[in-house]
Amino acid sequence: MAAPVPISEVKGNTRENRTAAHSHIKGLGLDGQGRALTSHQGFVGQAAAREACGLVVELVQRKKMSGRAVLLAGGPGTGKTALALAVSQQLGTKVPFCPIVGSEIYSAEVKKTEALMENFRRAIGLRVKETKEVYEGEVTELTPEEAENPLGGYGRTISHLLINLKSAKGTKKLRLDPSIYEAIQKERVRLGDVIYIEANTGAVKRVGRSDAYATEFDLEAEEYVPIPKGDVHKKKEIVQDVTLHDLDVANARPQGGQDIMSMMGQLMKPKKTEITEKLRLEINKVVNKYIDQGVADLVPGVLFIDEVHMLDLESFTFLNRALESPLSPLVILASNRGLTHIRGGSNLPASAHGIPSDLLARLLIIPTHPYNPAEIGKIIQLRCQTEGLSVATPAMERVSQLGEKVSLRYALQLLSPASILARVNGRPSGQIDLDDVKECEGLFLDARRSAQHLGETNGYIS
Ligand SMILES: Nc1ncnc2c1ncn2[C@@H]1O[C@H](COP(=O)(O)OP(=O)(O)OP(=O)(O)O)[C@@H](O)[C@H]1O
Ligand SMILES: [Mg+2]
Repeated sequence: MAAPVPISEVKGNTRENRTAAHSHIKGLGLDGQGRALTSHQGFVGQAAAREACGLVVELVQRKKMSGRAVLLAGGPGTGKTALALAVSQQLGTKVPFCPIVGSEIYSAEVKKTEALMENFRRAIGLRVKETKEVYEGEVTELTPEEAENPLGGYGRTISHLLINLKSAKGTKKLRLDPSIYEAIQKERVRLGDVIYIEANTGAVKRVGRSDAYATEFDLEAEEYVPIPKGDVHKKKEIVQDVTLHDLDVANARPQGGQDIMSMMGQLMKPKKTEITEKLRLEINKVVNKYIDQGVADLVPGVLFIDEVHMLDLESFTFLNRALESPLSPLVILASNRGLTHIRGGSNLPASAHGIPSDLLARLLIIPTHPYNPAEIGKIIQLRCQTEGLSVATPAMERVSQLGEKVSLRYALQLLSPASILARVNGRPSGQIDLDDVKECEGLFLDARRSAQHLGETNGYIS
């Protein structure tokens, strides 16, 4: 039998060491006036495009951008995906941001227009304010009361739950239905937690741990909250952020109550469900009613479609129409193609970026440009810092040259293998040396050399 692994050695699955290609990007790097700083928040150069994206962010925040579309157009490795990510970071977590890649919509399960529609609705948020009658306080007692099982048998069941809630103004003892006990267990409520229970629905929400316990030794990252003000039994304004897609999913299989809270409760079960156009229209009606009543605010977010030339003619037509609907997010497209045939339209003349001209006419186009050698050097340095690599100066110069002569992508991609070679070659403290970079160049071809190689060897099977 294998020796058991000591628990102390089991680490949580933190992602600390995983570096994604854009992890150095923390925002658009603009100053207070919306001007791009030369190198800030991980962004280097590309000033005009960054400033344009800054304007877009501002318009989204002022809710003036919905129903429009922006295209980031430029060669490969000029930072289009990085810009879109930075836009999402600038928008913050409250504004929905839904990133997809053009080819994602082709799946056997769902129609492509359906997949697009779903993502449109993921990008539109709704902030719902509800005033609810609640019992809120710190839990000072939590006792399930048992009883004989009324149906006979040997088991005992819970007949009631006694709970004592304490607020700044007083305490209240509640005798609750056993169904609420389940909700309390699901939220993992313990003594000393601050919770609220909705009077109408019995939904339980754990707010955090009472700050009276803030000094206790605790392994988990806890959120400490003060004891609630006012009485235990009161009216409370509850704000929730949901997307239209959340509402679609929740209502495709209705269960429980009709309020937002119980809709939310069902989101935990991710399963493909049939969402019909009729259902969406119904939801839109309800949403519009909420908005008219001032209960909810629409938060149009951003749908980002990378590699947009992968969409076909049908999808583009759908996109045109969807942009005109009153509930539409800002759509950001990105493409590195020049004049290309539109997918599914090979009988049509080639079109700019592989996008039909009627859609092109609606787009605000933000161009991205290739980087100069200094900028390339700076970006590579930033990546080295993020990946925790140390690079000798001559090696750095070589990688920067590659970035300029071959491509920024190629240069960035060589860094990780070169760092492994540096370790294999026994460099002091793993510093990447010029020879490691050269060895890597020999091991990994770039696109041009690969094509050349094929030419020289008459290719493989054709
Ligand atoms: N101005 C910049 N500052 C810092 N890093 C950058 C900048 N531009 C690009 N990068 C980094 O360079 C790499 C390539 O950029 P990115 O993936 O955004 O290019 P792209 O324009 O989307 O290319 P493609 O057309 O091939 O998709 C990424 O790791 C990105 O984070
Ligand atoms: Mg990209």
